[in-house]
Amino acid sequence: MSALAELYQKIAACQDCAELAGTRARTVPGVGAERAQIVFIGEAPGFHEDQQGLPFVGQAGQFLDHLLSSIGLSRSDVYICNVIKCRPPGNRDPLPTEINNCQKWLDTQLELISPKMIVTLGRYSLAKFFPGEAISKIHGKERRINNAVYYPMYHPAAALHQQSLRQTIEADMLKIPSILARTEEVKEEESKPQQLSMF
Ligand code: URA
Repeated sequence: MSALAELYQKIAACQDCAELAGTRARTVPGVGAERAQIVFIGEAPGFHEDQQGLPFVGQAGQFLDHLLSSIGLSRSDVYICNVIKCRPPGNRDPLPTEINNCQKWLDTQLELISPKMIVTLGRYSLAKFFPGEAISKIHGKERRINNAVYYPMYHPAAALHQQSLRQTIEADMLKIPSILARTEEVKEEESKPQQLSMF
């Protein structure tokens, strides 16, 4: 069994948040390849995700699929997950204790996948990697931290509520391939042996 599959079993048995464990239909750990170069992190499962056990399968997910195809990718090329692995009842906001309880799963996913690029979708994943910062100021601007690039985007659902954000989200998505290519160039530079200069 793959390390991710083992992790999914642990998540399915998780009882750390009594209310979520008691009301969920399924846990929604994440989907995609263990070797994915890009990980997209949303907020929390909604109704359809809870029913199917898969992230981003509702309307916001259809827009995410459209965004992925705009850069020539499909779900199987990337990894998609959420900050919270269970649906908050009635789609309420996740509580701080729930986010804390769930943090270990997301951290383990990122360790196992070790992606080149982490794309945050919406305010909860933004808060994890860019605490205290405003999405309106930093969306579409990458930040290199250690060996990965972090890239904040508006949540795809924002385009469903606010038509004016649609083009912004589409434009931010279109920047991803060149950011990823630059990351690879920087890595190559770093792995070249240092030339020793005598003079
Ligand atoms: N919104 C999210 O943040 N995640 C999902 O999986 C679905 C909708």
